[in-house]
Amino acid sequence: MALPSINPTKTKSWEKLQSHYKLLQNRSLQSLFVENPNRVNAFHLQWEDFLLDYSKNKITEETFQLLLELAEETDLKKAIQMQFQGEKINETEGRAVLHTALRTTENIIPEIAAVKNKIKTFSESIISGEKKGFTNLPFTDIVNIGIGGSDLGPAMAVEALQFYKNHLNVHFVSNIDGDHVAEILKKLNPETTLFVVVSKTFTTQETLSNAETIKKWFLQFGNQEAIAQHFVAVSTNIEKTTEFGIHETNIFPMWDWVGGRFSLWSAVGLSLVLSIGYSNFEQLLLGAQKMDSHFQTAKFHENLPVILALISVWHNNFFGAETEAIIPYSQYLQKLVPYLQQAVMESNGKSVDRNGNPVDYQTGTIIWGEPGSNSQHAFFQLLHQGTKLIPVDFIGFKQSLHGELLHHQKLMSNFFAQTEALLMGISEEAIRNQATSSNEKVIPYKVFEGNKPSNTLLIDQLTPESLGKLLALYEHKIFVQGIIWNIYSYDQWGVELGKKLATTILDEIKSNTVSSHDSSTSFLIQQFLDTNTR
Ligand code: F6P
Repeated sequence: MALPSINPTKTKSWEKLQSHYKLLQNRSLQSLFVENPNRVNAFHLQWEDFLLDYSKNKITEETFQLLLELAEETDLKKAIQMQFQGEKINETEGRAVLHTALRTTENIIPEIAAVKNKIKTFSESIISGEKKGFTNLPFTDIVNIGIGGSDLGPAMAVEALQFYKNHLNVHFVSNIDGDHVAEILKKLNPETTLFVVVSKTFTTQETLSNAETIKKWFLQFGNQEAIAQHFVAVSTNIEKTTEFGIHETNIFPMWDWVGGRFSLWSAVGLSLVLSIGYSNFEQLLLGAQKMDSHFQTAKFHENLPVILALISVWHNNFFGAETEAIIPYSQYLQKLVPYLQQAVMESNGKSVDRNGNPVDYQTGTIIWGEPGSNSQHAFFQLLHQGTKLIPVDFIGFKQSLHGELLHHQKLMSNFFAQTEALLMGISEEAIRNQATSSNEKVIPYKVFEGNKPSNTLLIDQLTPESLGKLLALYEHKIFVQGIIWNIYSYDQWGVELGKKLATTILDEIKSNTVSSHDSSTSFLIQQFLDTNTR
């Protein structure tokens, strides 16, 4: 069964939203708060330990209603069912999209339980020191070798769940830049390091090159047999993995129905499991599973991923907002945005609809951001006084992990203050009335228009479970938007051309002959060759 294919711009709700937008576009957000000072009551949702306040967006009850109609008209309900039932909704690759099956407690796919058991036993033997390296020393360091979804998820989660981690040091090698692997190797003792090669396809240039370089380095110290003790892999491609020299018993399988950018929940999360232990990993899965069932069962008007997706469509397709900032007020979440950039932009950066036709409306948003409060001292100036409309998601926690109360009070007061400043701004009159008088000439520069939209996600505490919920929340938001925009969210053909061209150029560089490119590219390659062959 194919996903429904409905051009969103041809729906009745879209037409109504367009007229509604015309009425609302020049109204200020502040005036909506004046009109209904309690609008937060209508536009917030408490679900378990997650509180979403979406009242600071230019929406009214009518807007929300029309957006919900859009979700109905684009057949979102059916699409959700199809995804969870394992229909091949990734049609351009002929695959199901079932990363959600990895976190369910139901035994839908028996192989999942077998791989989970293998991860549990293996990780426990490494963490406890029972499994040892080739000189009989326990492991101290883990190196995850992978890129894209085989790197960003585990790297983000190891960082995010640092508070829960054990004694093992976890490193990540991803870039084809040889300086990256060289810097990591500098820190390692081959006798006590375990290498986890993660590649769904086991054909990715970066990962294979880094793994080869590391293997070569390792063989200066250990012999071929030691490889079996120090190298494991996560892949769907058993043949290529064994060809590389990793013993079949050291392979943790994954499946083609798990997309790379949604694979943290599979054996791709092995380095995370090694870092925080299996029971914490199970908590992460549990959190995601709870969000999955919320997404599947909650009515759209009380459904967190649906609400976030609809507000984003409202900004993207009606207000013309090109980007969305995500600002977590937690240093632990410093890698959340790069992770979400792949999830969002590789999924919804598409311009052909599900009928094979070019779209004539906007699709995937540009995602960016950095943790607060650091980012307040970097790019917030533009959010407050620049010329662009940039909706922001603020993510914060009621309680810190180390219990530094005063720090947390200061952090969160910044968090609340930013959402307020973006909404309310400050008028010329208010500046004149301030206790400290302003030089007349400077007054215009001190005015903040405000009227800038934001969502606030206030979560009890950063735990493996709440992280699982948060990640699944954004995953489902991506899905809802892809359905509404009538695109395929689970392929990534757009990354292929560059890979192919790089292969051709590498051959040219190696043979020192530049063939037919555009004049700019040929010129640049020649400049590189001139330096490197001198
Ligand atoms: O280049 C894009 C991509 O295919 C991503 O989707 C994927 O996460 C990454 O490369 C790595 O792929 P693999 O796990 O097969 O090495």
